[in-house]
Amino acid sequence: MRVAVCSAQSYDRQFFTAANQNVGHELIFFDSHLCHETRRMVGDFPAVCVFVNDTLDVTVLETLAMQGTRLIALRCAGFNNVDVQAASSLGLCVVRVPAYSPHSVAEHSVGLILVLNRHLHHAYNRVRNGNFALQGLLGFELRGKTIGIVGTGRIGVAVAQILRGFGCRLIAHDPRENPECISLGVEYVPLEELYAESDIITLHCPLNPQTHRLIDRAAISQMKRGVMLINTSRGAVIDTQAVIEGLKSAKIGSLGLDVYEQEGDLFFQDLSDRVIQDDVFGRLLTFPNVLITGHQGFFTVEALSSIAQTTLENITVFERDGTCQNEVKVDLLRAD
Ligand code: NAI
Repeated sequence: MRVAVCSAQSYDRQFFTAANQNVGHELIFFDSHLCHETRRMVGDFPAVCVFVNDTLDVTVLETLAMQGTRLIALRCAGFNNVDVQAASSLGLCVVRVPAYSPHSVAEHSVGLILVLNRHLHHAYNRVRNGNFALQGLLGFELRGKTIGIVGTGRIGVAVAQILRGFGCRLIAHDPRENPECISLGVEYVPLEELYAESDIITLHCPLNPQTHRLIDRAAISQMKRGVMLINTSRGAVIDTQAVIEGLKSAKIGSLGLDVYEQEGDLFFQDLSDRVIQDDVFGRLLTFPNVLITGHQGFFTVEALSSIAQTTLENITVFERDGTCQNEVKVDLLRAD
């Protein structure tokens, strides 16, 4: 099938080309994001493959449908950037990669916890500058601490598995309790209780209308003073302005982010010779107790291989049978 691969990075080309060796789709890679301005660049492609920061709102989808696109193949798990209702009304099939390697994101989340907790980001620079003083690097043991996991799907349960090994007390909130978590000893509690009891809160829910700005001023006010907050889910699950206020008042003791609400203008590109125009992001960068990575939770050899393989399989099944494997259906919105 002729596939337009949007927002293509060198590693996308590498992993998709390798996975396509024995499959034989015609992959055309585009550096640009798919958005209003670029929606005509993929004219005449029956399949369009997109990533987290491509925009698939009603305007873009209408253009794609008019141009003859029939399949939107997301090469990611989250689908908050797609107007699923509009796609369905236009007869566009939307497929995704529901699980590629939840462990990749889970391990990255725990990595953020460990770096922040033991100040490894500062220690790295200090030692390279010949500064071996320990003042300011005081950490705390994870053993015995209470970790609140918001969202115990594939990634949340993998986080629970890892943190159980550290001897943490694990509590969680999810509208659907996961039996695997219960067997790991995770205790499900209402959100208010999770906020009040957690030393570390880690977010693994999807972005949807219920979770949009879940972590706002009211939520932060219920948290323990000095709480560590980790977000590797989607940027808009937190109200960044409220989190900045929480950091300034020391209510939030440290913050680890792999995602940011306005990341579409920043992430996945080298802007090191430019002036960053986003003042909210700029403010976040000034805090010594904030660690930001540029949406790299998924970025492992295992995950990229699996993403490429499943995406191409989804396309093959659609081309061969006209059916949608791993379909993003409208009722998934309600289920999440
Ligand atoms: P999943 O669908 O397996 O699990 C999500 C869980 O969140 C489900 O158990 C669901 O019931 C729960 N949930 C839904 N609404 C909730 C709410 N209001 N409060 C608490 N829990 C709620 O998804 P998975 O694979 O675990 O991924 C989670 C999210 O992680 C994705 O939606 C995506 O946004 C993000 N992600 C980030 C990546 C990165 O590179 N940083 C890579 C992959 C996913």
